[in-house]
Amino acid sequence: MIYLRAASPDDAAQIATIELDNYEHAYRGHGFDAWLDQQTIEKYVPWWRERLHALTPGVEMLVAMDGALTVLGFGRLGPARHGPADGAGEFQKVYVARKAHRLGVGRTLMGAMAARLHHLGYQQARVWVLTSNQPARRFYEQIGGELVDFTYDELLDDGTVLPHVGYGWRDLAELYKLVPS
Ligand SMILES: CC(C)(COP(=O)(O)OP(=O)(O)OC[C@H]1O[C@@H](n2cnc3c(N)ncnc32)[C@H](O)[C@@H]1OP(=O)(O)O)[C@@H](O)C(=O)NCCC(=O)NCCS
Repeated sequence: MIYLRAASPDDAAQIATIELDNYEHAYRGHGFDAWLDQQTIEKYVPWWRERLHALTPGVEMLVAMDGALTVLGFGRLGPARHGPADGAGEFQKVYVARKAHRLGVGRTLMGAMAARLHHLGYQQARVWVLTSNQPARRFYEQIGGELVDFTYDELLDDGTVLPHVGYGWRDLAELYKLVPS
């Protein structure tokens, strides 16, 4: 059974651990190793605690937990930050603890986030994914995401440019029906 709730500042350590561990395994060797070397748990825990204390208006964070209430994954949703100004929402982050990959946690988080975005008034939403992140692209395709016809280049603070592709869902109601929350 997977449980969901809004994230709290007390989740900062578990969220930071899941994010950094996934960075290491999903992104090393993808052209920004020097930037990855600079990302540390000492930096990420207070960063997340601060953000969870004061989320940007319109942005929400959810965590998925197992029966022991251990955090297995997290997702952040809000307004689209890149691409055309078409009123879409965005799945801004989706990370699942590696020990829980392929157990349906990501699918559950996406369904719950779709429901929240729909509740907030969005009809459609998209997600940006590093072009070379093939496993995540397969995941989004599997749950109905369609490749959008524009791209986005993320600029890291060390000047590295990371090309991203976008996947879109034109009807969020379909996504959360497909993925019960
Ligand atoms: C991508 C991610 C969120 C998927 O979460 P998850 O809980 O493992 O995914 P689910 O178990 O819900 O998978 C649902 C379906 O998506 C597809 N899928 C998921 N991971 C996949 C992978 N690595 N390769 C191919 N297909 C995959 C499968 O069809 C899967 O169904 P199945 O396991 O019954 O075959 C997770 O792997 C993750 O956190 N990856 C690292 C961080 C990342 O890349 N995040 C996205 C940033 S944009």
